[in-house]
Amino acid sequence: MTVPPSSTADRASAPSAVASAVSASAASESGSGEGSAVPVISCRGLWKLYGGDASADSPERWLAAREAPPSHEQALAAGYVPAVRDVSLDIGRGEMLVVMGLSGSGKSTLVRCLSRLVEASAGEIVVEGQDLRALDERGLIEIRRSKMGMVFQNFALLPHRTVLDNVAYPLEMRGQDRHARRERALEVIRLVGLEGREEHFPRELSGGQQQRVGIARSLAIEPDIWFLDEPFSALDPLIRRDMQDEFLRLQAMLGKTIVFITHDFDEALRLADRIAIMKDGTVEQVDTPDRIVLAPATDYVRRFTEEIDRARVVHAGTLAEALAGAAPAGEPIAAGATIHALARRLVDDTAASYPIAAGDGTLIGTLSRERALDVLLGPRP
Ligand SMILES: Nc1ncnc2c1ncn2[C@@H]1O[C@H](COP(=O)(O)OP(=O)(O)O)[C@@H](O)[C@H]1O
Ligand SMILES: [Mg+2]
Repeated sequence: MTVPPSSTADRASAPSAVASAVSASAASESGSGEGSAVPVISCRGLWKLYGGDASADSPERWLAAREAPPSHEQALAAGYVPAVRDVSLDIGRGEMLVVMGLSGSGKSTLVRCLSRLVEASAGEIVVEGQDLRALDERGLIEIRRSKMGMVFQNFALLPHRTVLDNVAYPLEMRGQDRHARRERALEVIRLVGLEGREEHFPRELSGGQQQRVGIARSLAIEPDIWFLDEPFSALDPLIRRDMQDEFLRLQAMLGKTIVFITHDFDEALRLADRIAIMKDGTVEQVDTPDRIVLAPATDYVRRFTEEIDRARVVHAGTLAEALAGAAPAGEPIAAGATIHALARRLVDDTAASYPIAAGDGTLIGTLSRERALDVLLGPRP
């Protein structure tokens, strides 16, 4: 668990109940896996309450006055809309964190707080070592223009501008000269596969193509951090799958740190390094897809993931048991293979266990046939 040194300046103004809740909140099992020591984005005890009628306290003051972190019901009863409650997350460099949850569970608000499009009511956000909530307007504009790309569901293209001019728009805002703008815009247009459409207007493009323009536009500034709020939700299922493939291809090249929102579990499973599952403003579990389906942290997550075909999610490497003595005989199984992909072997090869090999061929453990069959078929009745 990596907790970056927190800024005391911001902490001093943080509500007491919230500060004490920081360590208790539901956070991830561990960092991002690959041992990236310092998270790119880190939030602690993040809250956002909307509203409160005119006579009520500001959400900030109301939160500060609580002795214990308020429940969803308490916040509602006091007249606030509790959109984000006590969320703590670390997102590692190059990681794709997918935020999932039903409509209204707080996904958009959380991600908007992380980019300060929405001001949080309490908590701490550190982005590449900078205390985001302490930045003044200029600092904020600078960090957004230099580091953060955003893509929304509704494309939000400028209708009277061509593809080229839409993509070049953020560079224009940044004051880059015309030639440099054009070069960079053409480059990202090529990257998203829209070569030849530079002079088209948005209305002349399909939904999928429009979203590609949105993606190209957000990439134009070369952001390190990419926030995508249901970017493919408005697209037809087939186009959506294509866009997911395209997106994975892009990410394999670009290696950005990504927070991707979706309410579609299949999409989350295809894209995520880790998934954060939200309910009523809180994060119920942050974990790898494998662990979310194998070890749901709450009843809610269990119910949420019930319908998922676990064999298509769980990888052999996740079930690996330590090698005790000599490896079992037989052709090694790839750690990255899903149990579903191993189904035939599990049926045909009745050895008690199989060796598992990493990508480079080294043996890393064994796979128990019984455990793998449990994942494939469900536990024995
Ligand atoms: N600007 C706002 N003012 C008041 N309530 C809002 C506002 N934006 C969102 N909410 C409320 O906050 C909760 C979380 O919304 P949102 O973050 O949009 O959820 P999601 O993206 O998961 O659908 C919902 O109850 C929603 O109605
Ligand atoms: Mg939303």
